Amino acid sequence: MNIRGIVLAGGKGTRLGELTKVTNKHLLPVGSIPMVYHPLKKIVGCGIRDVLLVSGTEHMGDFVELLGSGKDHQCALTYRVQDEAGGIAQALALGETFCSGHRCLVILGDNIFYSSVRPMIEDSSHHPDWAWIGIKKVPDPGRYGVAELKGNQVTGIEEKPKQPKSDFAVIGIYIYPADVFDVIRTLKPSGRGELEITDVNNHYLKQGRMGYSILEGYWTDAGTLDSLYYANQLVREESPIFG
Ligand code: DAU
Repeated sequence: MNIRGIVLAGGKGTRLGELTKVTNKHLLPVGSIPMVYHPLKKIVGCGIRDVLLVSGTEHMGDFVELLGSGKDHQCALTYRVQDEAGGIAQALALGETFCSGHRCLVILGDNIFYSSVRPMIEDSSHHPDWAWIGIKKVPDPGRYGVAELKGNQVTGIEEKPKQPKSDFAVIGIYIYPADVFDVIRTLKPSGRGELEITDVNNHYLKQGRMGYSILEGYWTDAGTLDSLYYANQLVREESPIFG
């Protein structure tokens, strides 16, 4: 497939307290497998065979020990180190050489969801020069990037707004054209000192190059104690589709 896969598994994981004192959030269990298997299996299940994993210096060795070359997961893995947790867009920037002119499907390492990503890839394939986001109605949108919708158009995205303009969270599944790395080079760090993926998305939105798919089935992040517990409950009740 003419699209590369990227799993972002860096960050500080500070919201998980003692659970991440000696390990990385994405190595904790979700269901019967480590969290990082979930995004990886989603990507490979779409037929993508070249996958990049980004993580910090502290636990990269553990990822390599766990996943190796990727052969047990029917993919070829490349690893890149993010020296400091400078944001999702900064982590994504490390994929430039790996993508070498291809589009990329990016999944945040702590996103756990039921559906296949295939429908989103198909939707986006009609606009290969656009960025494509997944959105999902949630009860607590203020915890996430929030998409403002007018009719069936996304008109703006705000990162963790105090007063969300809709119930639609922007989930951690993104498809970008090859010029995403040029866009990231134009970004400035946000108030929390990170290069924000929401700024990348708003860039494409302003250019009229942004589409979206509504994700079916359950979705959650697993970056807090409550959401990690919830993610485990969800996957035990109904196994995710890895195809
Ligand atoms: O889960 C979806 C949400 O993820 C989106 O709605 C938000 O727009 C987006 O900013 C992000 O929000 P969070 O603040 O919850 O992201 P968090 O810092 O927890 O990072 C999510 C994943 O991204 C994490 O599992 C690892 C990866 N990451 C994060 C940072 C900050 C990196 O690989 N490197 C980083 O520097």
